[in-house]
Amino acid sequence: MSTTSQIKKIGVFTSGGDAPGMNAAIRAVVRTAISSGVEVTGILQGYVGMIENKMTALQMRDMANIIQRGGTILKTGRSAEFLKPEYRKKAADNLKSHSIDGLICIGGDGSFRGAQALWAEYQIPIIGIAGTIDNDVYGCDDTIGFDTAVNTALSAIDKIRDTADSHDRIFIVEVMGRDSGYIASAVGVAGGAEEILTPENIIPVDKIVEKLKESRARGKTSSILITAEGQKPGRAYDLADSIRKKSGLDAKVCILGHQQRGGSPTANDRILASRLGHAAVLALLAGKKNLMIGSQGKILTEISLAEATTKSKTADKTLIHLARALSV
Ligand code: F6P
Repeated sequence: MSTTSQIKKIGVFTSGGDAPGMNAAIRAVVRTAISSGVEVTGILQGYVGMIENKMTALQMRDMANIIQRGGTILKTGRSAEFLKPEYRKKAADNLKSHSIDGLICIGGDGSFRGAQALWAEYQIPIIGIAGTIDNDVYGCDDTIGFDTAVNTALSAIDKIRDTADSHDRIFIVEVMGRDSGYIASAVGVAGGAEEILTPENIIPVDKIVEKLKESRARGKTSSILITAEGQKPGRAYDLADSIRKKSGLDAKVCILGHQQRGGSPTANDRILASRLGHAAVLALLAGKKNLMIGSQGKILTEISLAEATTKSKTADKTLIHLARALSV
């Protein structure tokens, strides 16, 4: 298949925290583009590689055996320099020197803000695909990597349940999510947690203690509390300390950390990534620009990057209520 599009060479990059399924998205982008007669350049380490001119041509066969791999073969990065106009100029000059005339950015809303700046200043057409385990990007139900992260955390929580039950213990499990309670809410319900604490759902320690005491009085011998890391990774230790001081109850802590970012993507993440990567290339070749392609229900949707980066999406509080209602 060849194209009549203006776009002859696409640059693809992953940016921000890595997420399982990013490789499946890269594969979909490269294979769709090359099948359409368009060349692809991989930009390494996100905006860092754009500034430092770390780019490499990608071919069909480079995509073999990556659909099942976690991480990102293009590497990723968070670039403070890209916030400065002089570095964006450098990046734009590098893209020009490689004859890249369209970009596909796989990342979160911070990465999309960078993409928007490139469009505003240098009119390089960009399509975004949301890839972050946090699932905190407006305009899509799920981001690439969220489902895998939830399942990774869940499998750890199931194991913690065994030991919590054997020892009649309380455990506080801390999951990722700086500004977002999506992982916490999902694993809280799926893991049968007693309480879920998220950046959007701060619960006073007194209330938690009261709840734990009531549970014990009803005959519960072990409890799992889930907390998102919020702005302070390790906050689960502070919470355990406060519970101990207020009630004398001992709470063990398990911080799941970066293991949630790795591992082989689930089928759902591979399918989502493949659909979005394919659609992103077709959108770019159809002359669309400055959009994010997302999936809502079973339908692929397009919203402007401006909307995706200015509107926010927060975890569904009904999941928190559900976990509470079912942990009686
Ligand atoms: O990618 C999202 C995320 O994993 C957040 O949940 C977390 O707060 C943050 O990235 C950690 O980032 P870093 O790996 O750069 O410390």
